Amino acid sequence: MHVIAPSILSANFAKLGEEVSAVIASGADWIHFDVMDNHYVPNLTIGPLVCEAIRPCTAAPIDVHLMVKPVDRIVPDFAKAGANIITFHPEASDHVDRTLGLIRDSGCQAGLVFNPATPLTYMDYVMDKLDVVLLMSVNPGFGGQKFIPGTLDKLREARTKIDAYTARTGRSIRLEIDGGVKVDNIAEIARAGADAFVAGSAVYGAGKDSDPNRYDSVIAALRAELAKA
Ligand code: DX5
Ligand code: ZN
Repeated sequence: MHVIAPSILSANFAKLGEEVSAVIASGADWIHFDVMDNHYVPNLTIGPLVCEAIRPCTAAPIDVHLMVKPVDRIVPDFAKAGANIITFHPEASDHVDRTLGLIRDSGCQAGLVFNPATPLTYMDYVMDKLDVVLLMSVNPGFGGQKFIPGTLDKLREARTKIDAYTARTGRSIRLEIDGGVKVDNIAEIARAGADAFVAGSAVYGAGKDSDPNRYDSVIAALRAELAKA
């Protein structure tokens, strides 16, 4: 099953609740929630208060992508605010194994995020604590950047590691991609092994504010491409 996770980073923040409901009504699966701290990444976005505010707007999983340093202090706040999945960058935590445990103990699924230059070896000794592996296909901090083509080889490598783990243990781990995902490249990205797809500008850039069905056609187009993969 392919998961489509629109990133609300590109939504209209003046109508955020409505924007969240609209993408799910159009067939999206998760809400991707980008948290930036102007320290680990050079931009500042939204925190637990906003997560709590949108929680009643949808029953869909909220996928919190933490681009913050330090990580641990803020994890329980997001769990209380209704997050379902929490991912973080290994470079932003001094104790990766402990942070993964903390996320799970808070009742959420846990994941690691790999920047374009971050080696996949960070996952090797913590596979049992991973529910999601997220590969960045842009440098984190901004929406609307171009997909870095080298990520396709890295996806194939991650897919091989995850499949070997699943064969050994029977437990599955999602392989998510984030950055520059569009209708015209999503099939190729799926063929490289991704099974969850964050799309910010591609989804939220496609709708006219006043149209209640504004995201139907872009989500349908993404699904049609995934069906070909
Ligand atoms: C970047 C964020 C992404 C971003 C994706 O740091 O993690 O989730 O919103 O935006 P697009 O799909 O426009 O590249
Ligand atoms: Zn993200």
